[in-house]
Amino acid sequence: MLERSDIAENALQALHDEAYDRPFNLQNLNADTMIFTGGRQSRSLDGDWLFCVDLLDTGLRQKWYAMTPSRPEDRIEPWDYDPHEGETVPVPSCWQMLKEKWYFFEGSAWYSRPVTVDPLDKGRRRFLRIGAAQYDCKVFVNGAFLGNHYGGSTPFCVEVTDALAEGENWIMLCVNNTRTLDRVPMRNTDWFNYGGVYREVELFETPETVIRDLFVRLDGGKIRVSMTADGPAEAARIEIPELGIDASIALSGGQGEAAFDAAPDLWSPETPRLYDVTCTVGEDIVRDRVGFRTVERRGTDIVLNGKPLFLRGISVHEDDAETGKLTSEADIRRRFEHALELGCNFVRLAHYPHHERAPQIADEMGLLLWEEIPVYWAIDFANPDTRADATNQLRELIRRDRNRASVAIWSIGNENPDTDARLSFMRHLADTCRAEDPTRLIGAACLVNHRKLKIEDRLAAHIDVIGINEYYGWYDENFDELAVIGENSAPDRPVVISETGADGDHEAGPETGLFSVAYQAEVYEKQIATLRTLDYVKGMSPWILYDFRVERRQNVFQRGWNRKGLIAADKRTKKPAFHVLAAHYAERRATEETGQ
Ligand code: GCU
Repeated sequence: MLERSDIAENALQALHDEAYDRPFNLQNLNADTMIFTGGRQSRSLDGDWLFCVDLLDTGLRQKWYAMTPSRPEDRIEPWDYDPHEGETVPVPSCWQMLKEKWYFFEGSAWYSRPVTVDPLDKGRRRFLRIGAAQYDCKVFVNGAFLGNHYGGSTPFCVEVTDALAEGENWIMLCVNNTRTLDRVPMRNTDWFNYGGVYREVELFETPETVIRDLFVRLDGGKIRVSMTADGPAEAARIEIPELGIDASIALSGGQGEAAFDAAPDLWSPETPRLYDVTCTVGEDIVRDRVGFRTVERRGTDIVLNGKPLFLRGISVHEDDAETGKLTSEADIRRRFEHALELGCNFVRLAHYPHHERAPQIADEMGLLLWEEIPVYWAIDFANPDTRADATNQLRELIRRDRNRASVAIWSIGNENPDTDARLSFMRHLADTCRAEDPTRLIGAACLVNHRKLKIEDRLAAHIDVIGINEYYGWYDENFDELAVIGENSAPDRPVVISETGADGDHEAGPETGLFSVAYQAEVYEKQIATLRTLDYVKGMSPWILYDFRVERRQNVFQRGWNRKGLIAADKRTKKPAFHVLAAHYAERRATEETGQ
């Protein structure tokens, strides 16, 4: 006779419990539980993980995570999935790119793997870090739920010091990429909704006192260092040998801050100078390579190291024909090399935090960056939970990247409607930016006020850089209006044309007319001719470097892709518009260099 275990008993009760998921939405893995990882040794948990899609959340309802390993013939009751055996997938990856049957899968999916660890010396600690999981990631270790993280593009950590036992353990991640009205982004976006654990998974071992945060920057002519240590500690040591800095910073409640006189060679796209920084607290040591520069706005100018500049940019998504949202060092370098070939000094990383290697590599290659959280289109601005989610994603991005000299602009939104609820939501995000990092500019990609034909958005008064997305020659058909907008507008701060462009399909597009590459090039020519006359336009990042995947574009030319790339989805084939923009940037650069 089969005896009913509590798991089996629960499986019966779970059929009538539609509140099954509430206990698993603590969102307790967030900006405050991150640890600073620069320079740390880690154990990679990348590689094959057991994997199962779970469209109806049967795993949470039946508590698959609570099952213990067992041979099938030894089990005493039926089961629907055993997380200790089955098909495997490589981590990191996007499940859509692994099997045709998962291309449009949207729901929960389970990742599980054994992890064997040695005994932990007394006082030592362990942290599991996931570089990114799209969108909600619930973490289980040996059947215990440790917490979950919201947000598809920022890293998060969970302390596993007490959860991992000597010998074999089982880590299980339940990742849910379902698009909903209250998430950030919400359910409608013009980029593909990938899912999965698509950035690296690592295990860190630290001393009892761990450095959770380190922020090093040039501020008011001094090098200012702020840091947070978790655990008993009186002071930290900060070393920047090439600047002759080797000093102690007193800690109070784990927090410390100090400023030092120094005269670093300033970082810029032309001179991307980085300095080695080491921070030690007790036995904990972290390192970073930091560039020192200032970026500010003066009137309608964007000023780098005291000198106004024009941002010659291009927008990029994190998307690949073969790997989806999974990127690589080579992929990042290729996109920045193409940007440099265009003549760029600036790249807009749309519409969400890209891999942390992107700003690190931009630091080395000399490119300024616009980084963004996916507060995109019709966010549920009146929902406090949505605001908390967006705020946390912003804090996670800033804490991850605020030592990156390349990051010049934090963007808090894209093409949102100008409503009271949105204004309140966005002012809070702007305040959060300033509290976390007063040394950078705040931007957002706003919409033109087409009724008044002018640049007008109430959010502009609360940010430093007004991004404008306009598509005259494509969506906005009366091209002459662009010049009228130019004349009607008198912004008191810099404007960056954060998007403009047109689709051009070099493979199947027609010879002329909409979706031809000839038409795309013509739109660029006309846009450049108009935009160059607007002296308050201090940059542009046309849309977009490469064609990218998106569900909502299914005409005979797009075929599931947005074709506004200056380069096709193969990331090799340039379209004529690439050369039109490159010629413009070459001319701008020559003018800047000769000062005429
Ligand atoms: C919008 C939006 C982009 C989108 C683009 C387009 O401006 O910000 O995410 O891809 O237009 O329509 O191609």
